[in-house]
Amino acid sequence: MGQYVDLLKDKVVVITGTTSGIGKAMAKLFAAQGAKVVGSGRREELGQQVVDEIKAAGGEAMFVKTDVSDFAQIKNLIDTAVKTYGRLDIMVNNAALEPQILLKDLTVEEYHQVIDTNLGAYVFGCRYALDYMLPQKSGKILNINSVTKEQIVPGVGVYSLAKAAIGNLTKTVALEYARDGIRCNEVCPGLILAGAFENPEIREWAKDSIENGTPVPRLGTVDEIAHAALYLLSDEADFCNATSLFVDGGRRLI
Ligand SMILES: NC(=O)c1ccc[n+]([C@@H]2O[C@H](COP(=O)([O-])OP(=O)(O)OC[C@H]3O[C@@H](n4cnc5c(N)ncnc54)[C@H](OP(=O)(O)O)[C@@H]3O)[C@@H](O)[C@H]2O)c1
Repeated sequence: MGQYVDLLKDKVVVITGTTSGIGKAMAKLFAAQGAKVVGSGRREELGQQVVDEIKAAGGEAMFVKTDVSDFAQIKNLIDTAVKTYGRLDIMVNNAALEPQILLKDLTVEEYHQVIDTNLGAYVFGCRYALDYMLPQKSGKILNINSVTKEQIVPGVGVYSLAKAAIGNLTKTVALEYARDGIRCNEVCPGLILAGAFENPEIREWAKDSIENGTPVPRLGTVDEIAHAALYLLSDEADFCNATSLFVDGGRRLI
């Protein structure tokens, strides 16, 4: 049985969307567990702050400014990680937008923005990671999905469309490349104190849904998601493939 220290020792990990929320929590936890973390996002200053915090705590990290809706920038992110650290062990697709748009109001531009960011970037995150993982005959890919892959919430229809498709993407990678030493899993958070829920007005608006729509009647924390991700990326989880780990307080049952 491995100890709960250095679970990712010397692993090279690329994460999309480390400037806030769940991605930031994963970057810090993975670095504390020995990983060399390559973070990304559009907000350079916030991304660099996370790198500075990791380094101040004795960890190793760098930031690559990346807009994941431009898939060439995802390739650049992964290529830069490999140029810097020599290999790619783990790819975490996490960056996403969650705009509140009813289907009747959706524009073509909004559709492309959400689908490119929330789905296309995951597809090409997997695609470009495989370029390095296949010759190595090893690698782990983790997709941060959502309870909304199963549960439809009015106003986030296009978001949940992308999340449902990520479920199939996870299964496709898991099935196509398991024999090449590559595993692909997903974490499906419920309502988490991050993103929109950092706004007290949104928390107040969603109070009933948080308290009555979740069997564990509270928001989850970013650290609870990061720890679930850490488990799936550790060697201790090597028999998990196409696993959907729901961290949602049981919300999917309601
Ligand atoms: N919070 C929840 O309740 C919840 C529930 C279920 C699932 N999730 C999932 O968890 C993941 C993280 O969300 P979060 O809650 O941590 O939200 P968040 O704090 O808003 O973080 C989103 C991250 O995505 C990045 N991002 C967004 N668009 C991007 C783009 N075009 N290019 C590059 N980076 C981009 C943001 O960075 P920049 O703005 O710097 O680009 C930010 O770092 C998402 O996949 C989300 O769907 C969250």
